[in-house]
Amino acid sequence: MGDPIRIDVAAPSRGYAVWVGSGVLRQLPALLDQVGLGPRRFVVSTPPVWKHWGGSLREVMPDIEAIPVPDGERFKTLAQVSEVYDALVRANADRQSVVVTLGGGVIGDMAGFAAATYMRGIGLAHAPTTLLAQVDASIGGKVGVNLPGGKNLVGAFYQPWVVAIDPDVLSTLPRREFRSGLYEVIKYGMACSRDLYDVILKDLSAISRRAPEALTPVIAACCRIKAGVVTLDERDTGPREVLNFGHTAGHALESVTRYQRFLHGEAVAYGMLVAADVAAGRSILSSANQSALASLITKLGPLPAVSDLFTRPILEQMRHDKKVRDGRIRMILPTDIGTTMTVDDVTDLEVKDALVRCGVGA
Ligand SMILES: NC(=O)c1ccc[n+]([C@@H]2O[C@H](COP(=O)([O-])OP(=O)(O)OC[C@H]3O[C@@H](n4cnc5c(N)ncnc54)[C@H](O)[C@@H]3O)[C@@H](O)[C@H]2O)c1
Ligand SMILES: [Zn+2]
Repeated sequence: MGDPIRIDVAAPSRGYAVWVGSGVLRQLPALLDQVGLGPRRFVVSTPPVWKHWGGSLREVMPDIEAIPVPDGERFKTLAQVSEVYDALVRANADRQSVVVTLGGGVIGDMAGFAAATYMRGIGLAHAPTTLLAQVDASIGGKVGVNLPGGKNLVGAFYQPWVVAIDPDVLSTLPRREFRSGLYEVIKYGMACSRDLYDVILKDLSAISRRAPEALTPVIAACCRIKAGVVTLDERDTGPREVLNFGHTAGHALESVTRYQRFLHGEAVAYGMLVAADVAAGRSILSSANQSALASLITKLGPLPAVSDLFTRPILEQMRHDKKVRDGRIRMILPTDIGTTMTVDDVTDLEVKDALVRCGVGA
């Protein structure tokens, strides 16, 4: 086990370190001590994660107080936050108490929001356990919950004090969840870094086997990119937008299928193919690069079907997206491997043709 990689997030509201490396979970107590978090530490986790990794954490942190919560996006609610508050109150948690989130993005967002608001904010550390949470959700300080009327409608910007990313924990992640996270990793490469993209290609089989020595540098590269944009744009008003590559059509696909068909990364994979198709149609992306992206995505395995979906509701949904101005759709288009441009004049016809070429029914 080598030394973990340290990435600094210099967000205006709070700077902190993200540690990436095999075995980092066991170093969590030392990392919390280092930033002065303690002494009472509450771990919020969920059975599928706790059953595999709770023991390791307890070995190094015997005093840890566990707050178990039920698993799944449908529990990313105010009611669940309220249950966490109740558990904190029952345990007499005070302002010096700390919440450690051990789980995927759902746990990080929900319990992070509880930490941001309990007694107007207590200490928070993330130990993300899905690839998606390791490369995206755990960095940047967005915490919150869903309302019946929509996703992530209530929340806050609340940066953690430390993030501990251990690729070893990915060994127990369901295969489909892991692959879904890999599409977000490809997003970072395609949108921001040819170096990362090349590493993904070169090490794809070791990455797919989840070899920690292959995963560590790749996760760290994604975290560096995310840390960079968060530093520039903590509250997501502009520069963070590049990380929405693949998300305009991706969100629409998730929404028209009521979040039942796709895992988030899978929808983003389609979204990247759609954006690449629009870009190639405008001759701002070469067809060689378009095919390269498509072949990388295909290599990871099959995506859920889209042939039974229709373009019209997807387009409607894209037009409802906040990125729309004057009926023209705003999209992040790839211009090369590692670079993008934002356009806000994409026509319905361009999107429709791209969707159909990506497999959507007419
Ligand atoms: N805050 C942000 O900036 C941000 C960014 C992206 C996504 N998100 C949010 O993240 C959420 C999605 O997160 P997710 O994809 O991590 O899903 P998730 O948290 O639901 O985790 C997916 C599944 O994997 C299980 N799991 C997690 N780690 C495991 C492990 N190591 N071994 C075995 N099982 C494990 C979970 O219990 C769950 O069943 C969404 O709510 C989304 O809105 C937030
Ligand atoms: Zn995403």
